[in-house]
Amino acid sequence: MSGRAAPNGDCTVVVGCQWGDEGKGKVVDVFAEDADVVARYQGGANAGHTVHVGDHEFVLHQVPSGILHPGKRCLLGNGVVVDLAQFFSECDHLAERGVDVRGRIGVSTRAHVVFAHHRALDAALETRAKHKIGTTGRGIGPAYEDKTGRRGVRIGDLLDRALAEETVARSLQGARERLEWLGADPASAGTLEEALAPASRLPDVAADVGLEIWEARAKGRRVLLEGAQGTALDVDHGTYPYVTSSNTTAGAASAGAGIGPTAIDSVIGVVKAYTTRVGNGPLPTGFDERMDAFMRKLGAEFGATTGRPRRCGWFDAVLAAYAARVNGLTGIAVTKLDVLDTLPELKIATAYRLGDAAEHPFPPTVQELDQAEPVYETLPGWTKPTTEARRLADLPANARAYLDRIEELAGVPIAMVSVGTRRNQVIRGVAA
Ligand code: IMP
Repeated sequence: MSGRAAPNGDCTVVVGCQWGDEGKGKVVDVFAEDADVVARYQGGANAGHTVHVGDHEFVLHQVPSGILHPGKRCLLGNGVVVDLAQFFSECDHLAERGVDVRGRIGVSTRAHVVFAHHRALDAALETRAKHKIGTTGRGIGPAYEDKTGRRGVRIGDLLDRALAEETVARSLQGARERLEWLGADPASAGTLEEALAPASRLPDVAADVGLEIWEARAKGRRVLLEGAQGTALDVDHGTYPYVTSSNTTAGAASAGAGIGPTAIDSVIGVVKAYTTRVGNGPLPTGFDERMDAFMRKLGAEFGATTGRPRRCGWFDAVLAAYAARVNGLTGIAVTKLDVLDTLPELKIATAYRLGDAAEHPFPPTVQELDQAEPVYETLPGWTKPTTEARRLADLPANARAYLDRIEELAGVPIAMVSVGTRRNQVIRGVAA
């Protein structure tokens, strides 16, 4: 591992490089210390970003993880789908816990809204599906369907009472008809009054996010763009159809925040030191049942949004190299290294065997992924605690060798290593 300085571009994207739950919340929280503006650019309340400050744990679904640093401006870009009831309850909950959110949060007037009827459709579609995706049930797919179908409701629509009533009533009626067609109860869509209720609070937060970011950059401020989910859940580049309904990769940061791609200076990819997945779909390096249960307990691998158990597996360097390519990574943040502290030996998948090909890049179809045989390299464990390490030199030699191998196989320098849940349990300034 090289010893260059921490990322210091004016605009940095933080993106998940596995199936979500890589620990992006903690990485964003750490980088946010040096940022002025933190913005989310895709996804919605399906995300669950966990941040520990002192003895307090915060799980954020809609509000960017930068909110826990006083004074930082936090934005939701046009690419996010916003569940307003959830969003305002999260803001109120943060305020109750002493986090001052007043004047610090902006929501793009171009962002689309997730309503109760989207959640009802999400549930109905999953119930009826032959091949279930295992969604978070937060209405994400149906909300993005409405967006691309050009029948969605945007934050800006809700600022005008007459327009709000018209657009939401149309959206609600469409959902009721679809629910009926799906054999679900149309009443589960909720009422127009319920759907419109949170709109009264919007004037305090509605913003032109792209313009704000542009102006912040022009004033020399530092911007952090916070991705949700992960590369393998991207609707184009992930394990389709077992994916979320947005582009999660770094390219989406530009479109979803409303800034040109040339405004982005660096892209930090977050990888957990092993692999997890929640929801259905292939996990090539997945453990056998016994090891799976052991690692789930060791790493507390339960979904932050749904509480579902996550499936666990060895570190997949085929996926890491793919993520480095499709995201254009300039650095990697490795999280949860400490979870591996007690394992006597570790494996890394260095290639996939598929048919006659011994080395295969991350395949585009789930059919191929189901057949892909990971080729493993075994490395010795370090069987010593890493939780107190604050410099690379503090880590046991075998832990450094493990990180070096990840860096080598991904082809991207490691910028940060996390060795525990607390904010200070981090090794920074590793590479640019
Ligand atoms: P949806 O985003 O709720 O539609 O769910 C689609 C797939 O993405 C499911 O496999 C979910 O488990 C997964 N997913 C969505 N959000 C997250 C996340 O924040 N972390 C991990 N998996 C997620």
